[in-house]
Amino acid sequence: MTGKLRLGVNIDHVATIRNARGGEHPDPLRAAQAAERAGADGITAHLREDRRHITDGDIDRLMKGISLPLNLEMAATQEMLRIALAHQPHAACIVPEKREERTTEGGLDAAGQFDALVPIVDQLGAAGIRVSLFIEPSERQVDAALRLGVPVVEFHTGRFASLFADVPGEDAVAELRRITDAVALAAKNGIEAHAGHGLTFDNVVPVAAIPQVAELNIGHFLIGEAIFTGLEASVARMRALMDGAR
Ligand code: PXP
Repeated sequence: MTGKLRLGVNIDHVATIRNARGGEHPDPLRAAQAAERAGADGITAHLREDRRHITDGDIDRLMKGISLPLNLEMAATQEMLRIALAHQPHAACIVPEKREERTTEGGLDAAGQFDALVPIVDQLGAAGIRVSLFIEPSERQVDAALRLGVPVVEFHTGRFASLFADVPGEDAVAELRRITDAVALAAKNGIEAHAGHGLTFDNVVPVAAIPQVAELNIGHFLIGEAIFTGLEASVARMRALMDGAR
């Protein structure tokens, strides 16, 4: 696939800022609408177990207030399954979740947690929700995704992003190769490949240039950059860099 690369804008950290003071400002729904005007193709929100940023009320308002598809990031728990089934988002991306982590560290061990994932993946899929697994770019994890029958995987680019940050050298190139190979393996087996985590204006181009990647999900950098340039400008620039990489 070499078509248009979709941009999913993760608005979690708009809610982080709002929650620092309580109240309603800044509103993640307003951010989602701004992202749409600037060329986003989807909105992503992670309802964490501890509700540290996005809340249940946010999911409700996003479902009613945006026209773009919503990608709900969720842990593989019964609580999150119930919420996803109640809201019926376009997509659900299953992520690993530890309460003490600052952000999603490492991918889901779909191979190791295979049996626990089967009923969650099956129920989401049966409800017509497009299921994705946020995994490390490895053959073992792609193989587990294949056996689970998910239509989509999202490859964790966090390691690549942190290696790229210090003068991009051999390690970053090797990690990019690992991502490229995993994307090709997924695509060859009919699984749509997405990627995300830690992507910025500086490091997005090599990931966006991988031809079979269909979607990037980007959050923290875009929201941080919005402080300086506004959200529409930050999303539009990311959009332009992604388009230029194709
Ligand atoms: N994709 C997934 C599955 C995520 O959990 C996150 C947020 O942790 C992102 C993409 C976006 O990462 P970032 O906020 O670093 O852009």
